[in-house]
Amino acid sequence: DEARASRESAPELVVVANRLPVDLEKLPDGSTRWKRSPGGLVTALEPVLRQNHGAWVGWPGVPDVDVDPIVEDGLSLYPVTLSSRDVTEYYEGFSNGTLWPLYHDVVVKPIFDRTWWNTYVEVNRRFAEETAAIAAENATVWVQDYQLQLVPKMLRMLRPDLTIGFFQHIPFPPIEIFMQLPWRTEIIEGLLGADLVGFHLPGGAQNFVYLANRLVGHPVSRGQIGVRSKFGEVQVGFRTVRAGAFPISIDSGELDELSKSRSIRQRAKQIRQELGNPRRIMLGVDRLDYTKGINIRMTAIQELLAEGRLDPKENIFVQLATPSRERVEHYMHMRDEIERQVGRINGDFGEVGHPVVHYLHRPIPRNELIAFFVAADVMLVTPVRDGMNLVAKEYVACRSDLGGALLLSEFTGAATELRQAYLVNPHDIDGVKDSLLAALDQAPEEGRKRMRALRRQVLAHDVNRWARAFLNALAETPHAGETGASL
Ligand code: ADP
Ligand code: G6P
Repeated sequence: DEARASRESAPELVVVANRLPVDLEKLPDGSTRWKRSPGGLVTALEPVLRQNHGAWVGWPGVPDVDVDPIVEDGLSLYPVTLSSRDVTEYYEGFSNGTLWPLYHDVVVKPIFDRTWWNTYVEVNRRFAEETAAIAAENATVWVQDYQLQLVPKMLRMLRPDLTIGFFQHIPFPPIEIFMQLPWRTEIIEGLLGADLVGFHLPGGAQNFVYLANRLVGHPVSRGQIGVRSKFGEVQVGFRTVRAGAFPISIDSGELDELSKSRSIRQRAKQIRQELGNPRRIMLGVDRLDYTKGINIRMTAIQELLAEGRLDPKENIFVQLATPSRERVEHYMHMRDEIERQVGRINGDFGEVGHPVVHYLHRPIPRNELIAFFVAADVMLVTPVRDGMNLVAKEYVACRSDLGGALLLSEFTGAATELRQAYLVNPHDIDGVKDSLLAALDQAPEEGRKRMRALRRQVLAHDVNRWARAFLNALAETPHAGETGASL
């Protein structure tokens, strides 16, 4: 039939994510242009998809626009339209006012709103329908993240020929916390539509398998789940759904190369000069999100300055913060708190022309960001909870000079791999302060030793390896379609 015929030139590998890798930007004169989307999901997936000439289904980042599919550099983009109401209820509401805080250890209180849930179901159905309409016969579809947890089941009902993978980019919470969700069973059933469900850590996969049994009553495997090995299994009728741990990464080789280039080296030197040639530069790079613990590092620095343990003439802190989810209430509060802290530190310890904290609230161009990584003596990564945290890996990839030190929260997925960082419990301010001083004062030989070990880990486990591990496991699932894509 006609639909089938048109699928012959259709994509064999389709990524479905809430966002496209580019955002449509409306300029004041009414014209539009595309710019890179924020966040770690896009950082990780974009190079993989581009290399594999895949298709990407997602929202162009602004409400109420209807854009035609575009092909860009070997990557086909299929925009999904969201109305203003969808953005409020599905994206800002259920995704980022309910699921995001719930899955991040209820750092702030999740809101359980039935209208938001209904819109979440509706928008997930739209993503499933648009994907069903474009994917080739027996294609592999890879659904991403917490915004689209119902898509695997909906898509399987529309297109049983597809091989469906799902990857959760944020933490999967402890069982006791997940059980608060009024729609917990629907979410687990949604995910069970996939052939393979991936998490960053074995613990998340283990929790999911346990819940498939407890909430839906499916028979499940009992063994320990490993990293990229020893998957968990859920028996859903005649189908076997597998769950595994696949820690995500970055294009580390590319960052390593870029960071060695002359222009970036020079820019890094210039940044140090522009900051007044301080003895040491501390750096934070984050989406402005309450999970990132930006307030914690500010408090640590403020107390160290007040106690005279940190000299404001010699130590500078640069915080680069991308605006994020700005209409969600908890994000507004966090921004106010951070900006109050910046003002207070500079008011108490800065001099005219020499602030202690340099704070930018905007996205920084890629090459400029790399130059900051190269220039920074200590990188501060202090989330109270983070699925992985790619910034930590980016910093390490940029330090071929073996300089610098990484201060890293134990509550990030990255901490399970980056064992030679200065690991901290972000809830223990005294511990954070001591570790920060230790990182600032590390002996050069000690620093090189740590950085060498960190780099070995990050360069060996890049994002291609992550994608290959996931897609190969997906292609091997027992009841998957005939031609699973593999890299
Ligand atoms: P998340 O996905 O929660 O935002 P990650 O640390 O995993 O956190 O990924 C964040 C990505 O966004 C990284 O690639 C990082 O370089 C980028 N990023 C973060 N802050 C900025 C900024 N101020 N300007 C430009 N890019 C940023
Ligand atoms: C995290 C999430 C992504 C999300 C990104 C940026 O990385 O896991 O799904 O795209 O943050 O957030 P935003 O809400 O702007 O898409």
